[in-house]
Order: sequence, then C-alpha cells, then structure tokens
Amino acid sequence: MKLAVYPGSFDPITNGHIDIIKRASKLCDKLIVLVSINTNKKSMFSSLEKAELIRKSVIDLDNVEIDCFEGLLVDYVRENGIDVIVRGLRAISDFEMEFQMAGLNRKLYEGAETMFLMTSIENSYLSSSMVKEVFYMKGSISQFVPECVENAMNEKYSEGKNE
Ligand code: PNS
Repeated sequence: MKLAVYPGSFDPITNGHIDIIKRASKLCDKLIVLVSINTNKKSMFSSLEKAELIRKSVIDLDNVEIDCFEGLLVDYVRENGIDVIVRGLRAISDFEMEFQMAGLNRKLYEGAETMFLMTSIENSYLSSSMVKEVFYMKGSISQFVPECVENAMNEKYSEGKNE
C-alpha cells in the first residue's frame, strides 16, 4: 500500500491545491492532506478550520484523508510510515524553495522522498496569498476557491469587522 502525504499551510485551500490533490490521489493508495505549520506565514484560519474546509472541498475523493500536525514534517512521515511527500510546483520561482525543502527533509530523515507535480497551466498563477489579497481588496475570488472557502472567508471578515 503506497501512502502519500501532501503537506501545506492551506490558508485557505485553493482550486490549485484541489487539482494537485485529485491528481496525486490517483497515484497512491491513500493520500493524507496534512495541514502543517509554516512559521514564515501568518494564518487567517486555524488548523482545524483549514482541515474542515479541505474536508468539504474533497469529500468526493474516497482515498483522501485530512490531518493536522504541528511538528516537523519528517517526524510525521517517519511516525506514519509515509512513502512519499507530494508538493505542487508552479513556476521557476517555486523551484528554489522546494528544492531546499526536499533536500532539508531528506537530510533530516533519509526516508523522506519528495515527488513534485507540476500545477495545471490554468492554476499556475494561483496562491493562497494572492487569493487573500484579492479578497481583502474586495475582488471576486469565486473562480479561485471552492464556494465553502469563499463563504468562510466572508464570515471571518465580517467577524473581524465586528471586533
Ligand atoms: O503551503 P506552504 O506554506 O508552502 O507549505 C510549507 C510547509 C507547511 C509544507 C512547510 O513549511 C513544512 O513542512 N512545515 C512543517 C515544519 C517543517 O517540517 N519544517 C521543515 C521543512 S521546511
């Protein structure tokens, strides 16, 4: 049984992530989408909220599970007998950081193998940060994220305004 993990900060999940999840899930027996901590990013959603939005967005995929982990990715990989880490690659700009992360993870645990999937061309510009920026500037994000995510962002924003 081939077990894969797709880690990310998913703040929030976008159609680009969903494309990677769908394609990666066809290449393994089970895919765990892992909400992880990126210490360089400030989050709009909590890990549990992110996990719930991911669950709603990929509910039709039978071999996909969602989990949250606050530690080092390689510890999760080791403890759960994961065969491969999946990451999406958008453009040349992603390459350097992803190359560094894959190398670091292998150095920390030599069983950590990373597999990259190129994002579909139509999602090559898409990122959670861009979605948040468009949202904060009152642009429409409906073509970039599932409806549940757009609703959750609207809710968060109105909560924030009432504080
Ligand atoms: O969606 P992102 O922000 O590009 O994902 C990056 C993420 C969360 C996968 C990465 O920061 C990560 O693996 N965090 C867990 C902590 C860890 O293992 N850090 C060392 C590798 S950078």
